[in-house]
Amino acid sequence: MVDRRKLAAGNWKMNGLGAELAEIDALAAAHKDPSCDILICPPATLIERMVRRADGSAISVGGQDCHPATSGAHTGDISAAMLADAGADHVILGHSERRTDHGETDAGVRVKAEAAIAAGLVAIVCVGETLGEREAGETLAVVGRQVAGSVPDGATGASLVLAYEPVWAIGTGKVPTMDQIAEVHDFIRSALAERVGEAEAGAVRLLYGGSVKPGNADEIFAVSNVDGALVGGASLKAADLGGIIAALERAAG
Ligand code: 13P
Repeated sequence: MVDRRKLAAGNWKMNGLGAELAEIDALAAAHKDPSCDILICPPATLIERMVRRADGSAISVGGQDCHPATSGAHTGDISAAMLADAGADHVILGHSERRTDHGETDAGVRVKAEAAIAAGLVAIVCVGETLGEREAGETLAVVGRQVAGSVPDGATGASLVLAYEPVWAIGTGKVPTMDQIAEVHDFIRSALAERVGEAEAGAVRLLYGGSVKPGNADEIFAVSNVDGALVGGASLKAADLGGIIAALERAAG
């Protein structure tokens, strides 16, 4: 049995000004020696300040997207090397909001993930079905296609994290049943094995994301193949994310 250290990851999305960095102080003070990893992905404007603020704490900092190129004429974009230079060590890629708002495709996510890994970042690749796809019975087909298309060759447990985020559960307060989460996470583990081999697939951490709160975290973290959470709204407040971290630490035993 592979020992996958659990990961509590916060995605601040397009939220947070300098004043909100106080949440990082509170989070760092409350979780000095956690038995899981803690990651916050703020907007790009806060990365460097958050890295400085979190220095010496258990909190690492990540980006929410990167461009596949190292540098060049791409106005408004940020490269993986730039994120690393700012002190980030992870980057979220292919989040459903980017797939929807920016037309990101599996192939596009894959080249971004390759660039991220080449720059020394851990790529957190997001997959998940829409409500229509679930109701049509297409969940596993959609997620399987996303895993096959978005995960780069040679990804390892050290370079890749996979997040299952059903689109209909994001920001809605709706959560799949625990059986539904288990079904998809077990399926992702085997789809990953086909993509990167059994050994590395067994080392990749699989996060669940979509309306995770302190009140439902224990139940979610007890599900097979759930190695942590990618948290949106509840990651903006140290107390809420702290409740989720505490649940993850209980699950870690
Ligand atoms: P919520 O936790 O706000 O539902 O967002 C989940 C998410 O999209 C994390 O990336």
